[in-house]
Amino acid sequence: MSNSKKSGSTKADIKNLEKKLGEVLGLERAAQKAVDELVAMKLLDSGDKDETKEIQDEANSHEEKLLEVVNQLANDEEIKINIETVNDTAKETEKKATKIMKTYLGENPDKSEGLEFLCLAEGGEVAHYEVLEVISKKFNNRKLRNTVRSILRQERGHLTICLDMAREAVS
Ligand SMILES: [Fe+2]
Repeated sequence: MSNSKKSGSTKADIKNLEKKLGEVLGLERAAQKAVDELVAMKLLDSGDKDETKEIQDEANSHEEKLLEVVNQLANDEEIKINIETVNDTAKETEKKATKIMKTYLGENPDKSEGLEFLCLAEGGEVAHYEVLEVISKKFNNRKLRNTVRSILRQERGHLTICLDMAREAVS
């Protein structure tokens, strides 16, 4: 415990961290809305609904955990991220993700398209958390690293579930 080394992060790393945290926050919010949308469009069977509800609940818990991390990082003397930058990025990302969904689903989507869109969304989340995990290792902040690692694990699980549902729908 003696050598409390300074983290090797630079200003650019902090900018990257703010951006990536904002992006995952926006994606988690969009994911929750996407499930509601797919249910409203009747694109999910009852079995799918149970699984997607679970994904939605976890997205909600990820959002809360991320907000905790963001608040903690804003108060971390060495890191001091800008909450406003994170929030602006989150809003922008949520808007973009919702637009992508509308474009992807179009006027009259079928069940496969709905489930494939969910795969796309979860794949996007996995990609962003993979990158955030690398960035998080540059900072001397255990809560950040642990939270990102545990969410990434669950996101990989979400992608697997969505892929299973998409395959099941046509078999
Ligand atoms: Fe997810």
